[in-house]
Amino acid sequence: MRRSDVFQIFLLCLSLTHSEAEMVIENAIALDQDSHLEIQDVKTNHVESSREISISVDIWAELKELRDMTIQLKADLVHYLSKIEKVEQEKSALEVRISSTEMEIKEIKMQNADRPKVAFSLGLTNAGRLGPYSTDVTLKFSKVFSNFGQGYNPNTGIFTSPVRGVYYFRFTFFEVDNANWMGVRLYHNSKLIMINYDRSSSYYENMSNGVILQLNIDDVVYMVLVSPYTVFDDHRNYSTFTGFLLFPL
Ligand SMILES: *[C@@H]1O[C@H](CO)[C@@H](O)[C@H](O)[C@H]1NC(C)=O
Ligand SMILES: *[C@@H]1O[C@H](CO)[C@@H](O)[C@H](O)[C@H]1NC(C)=O
Repeated sequence: MRRSDVFQIFLLCLSLTHSEAEMVIENAIALDQDSHLEIQDVKTNHVESSREISISVDIWAELKELRDMTIQLKADLVHYLSKIEKVEQEKSALEVRISSTEMEIKEIKMQNADRPKVAFSLGLTNAGRLGPYSTDVTLKFSKVFSNFGQGYNPNTGIFTSPVRGVYYFRFTFFEVDNANWMGVRLYHNSKLIMINYDRSSSYYENMSNGVILQLNIDDVVYMVLVSPYTVFDDHRNYSTFTGFLLFPL
């Protein structure tokens, strides 16, 4: 019996019960024996039968081995299929998360686009020293580095809040002569928020400060040079005033 014949019989056996399979195999062996007897009648009966017995033992061993392998392959297949199913589940869960994240990003982008943009940064003057004056004067920062939202008016020196929100303001002032004290105030509407004076022992002097304020629409913020003090600025932008909206309310 050839190997391909054995394999065909084996495939047939897979679909049968054990006893049915045994019958098929026995029949196959019997048929095989017949054909051998027909073709090889020259050989002695003794030699013939002992050879057939050893062939049938071989076939059984081979079939058993193949059957065991198939059982193992089936088990492996079930195992891998369950793994694939798990991966598919994880994949669809991830897809859900990604699409919800994409929606959130879209929403944030829209909110950002709608968000009011208010920010200014200013330099005081190229004219050198301002003051001393006989009265307090509102400082007109004439060098506009930026003015998003057009809240700052360089003609008046006043910042007007275009939206209700929380704002940050900061300033730096500079003097270049010990004989002159610096003195400035920061106002929110008519309310004095802070006063800053400085006279350093060195030739140059600088002072800085910052504050966070809650403003309603059309509230104003501005800086005043206190009489009889001075501040100094030139093309090097020593004295600056900056403000921006932290978040609307
Ligand atoms: C003030 O600032 C100027 C330049 O901005 C610097 O040359 C000077 O040293 C500073 N003076 C002090 C006391 O910090
Ligand atoms: C001061 O600001 C102006 C813009 O108003 C800029 O052109 C100039 O370079 C600045 N000067 C220095 C020394 O940074």
